[in-house]
Amino acid sequence: MVAVTVTFAQKLERMPHYEAGMHEDAAREAFGGDQVIKLASNESPWGPHPAVVEAIGRAAPRLNRYPDQHARRLRRRIAERFDADPARIAVGNGSCELLLAAAEALCEPDDELLFAWPSFSIYPHLAALSGAREIRVPLADGYLHDLDAMLEEVTAATQLVCVCNPNNPTGTHLGAERIAEFCERLPDRVTVALDEAYIEFQAADDPDATSDLVAEYPNLIVIRTFSKAYGLAGLRCGYALCTPSFRAALDAVRQPFSVNELAQVAAAEAIQHADDVAQRVERTIVERVFVEEGVRELGLEPATSQANFSWIPLGDVDEGELVRELGERGVVVRRGAGLGDPGHIRVTYGTRAENERFLAALGEVLAA
Ligand SMILES: Cc1ncc(COP(=O)(O)O)c(C=O)c1O
Repeated sequence: MVAVTVTFAQKLERMPHYEAGMHEDAAREAFGGDQVIKLASNESPWGPHPAVVEAIGRAAPRLNRYPDQHARRLRRRIAERFDADPARIAVGNGSCELLLAAAEALCEPDDELLFAWPSFSIYPHLAALSGAREIRVPLADGYLHDLDAMLEEVTAATQLVCVCNPNNPTGTHLGAERIAEFCERLPDRVTVALDEAYIEFQAADDPDATSDLVAEYPNLIVIRTFSKAYGLAGLRCGYALCTPSFRAALDAVRQPFSVNELAQVAAAEAIQHADDVAQRVERTIVERVFVEEGVRELGLEPATSQANFSWIPLGDVDEGELVRELGERGVVVRRGAGLGDPGHIRVTYGTRAENERFLAALGEVLAA
């Protein structure tokens, strides 16, 4: 046999490692016992709406066929929800795919891609994959995006700016007015990917205020997901409000059937249950207040969250030790070190019982 040495593309060396929150099975293996609760991936603690589960069951026998390449029914439903033209709706295999496709469609090597830091940990992948140079702009006081500083970093090479609002991992939020002002001041040749994975959970603004901006700023794409407020993270479906030409560009760089049949059917059903989403959001906000108060009572001050998770600075407490001790008590949270800022943890809100367990475990560990 002839020995062949495979050489991989150079970009592989640039690719950052994306460390997802521990899967429950892995957590059980690592910490033992069946009582593990996962508060590490900003998922919904509540399963999908029963009508969504039924729709998936009804579609399953048709899986011998490919899905609609253009996801027409799903895009029409999303368009109805936003009172928009379906031509302005793109869908993707999770909003991550839309973000990656946006970078692929926009950036050549040596272009620049701008984002705040710490922010969503997929953004460095967009740069690595497309070859663009990443420019990270530190968050301002209060863990907020420093939009003025971001504007100062815009150069002739800037192609894409990612704004995560509310921001992951800090949960902080800027009002739609600030976003509009940012778009106004940005050169219109620069695209803004406004990543609104958690927008439904914010209680400061009309949640659809930014979607109205898409008509005003053709360089703005608003990216949302079914993974969080709809409780469908395992389905992998996200969508974008954008210009028809931007949608065509996204479609051009992806494989043709990226949103599978079950995802199309389920998301098209889910978007019709606005009451259910509102209820989930309300329950999440109740848990947000509960967790924030509990954390404060333990002497820590979380960042002001408008999302379904809290970002908690630990002061002198050792982050690695704390996360390990919580894990041993069956509570899995995320380390700040893996999210761009050591000395913090990020905890997703679970059910009331899960949040009580988190707070009890945190109290025990801090007391020790
Ligand atoms: C800010 C942000 N954007 C996008 C995503 C990706 O979501 P999706 O499941 O739609 O790919 C996440 C997931 O955690 C996120 O935190």
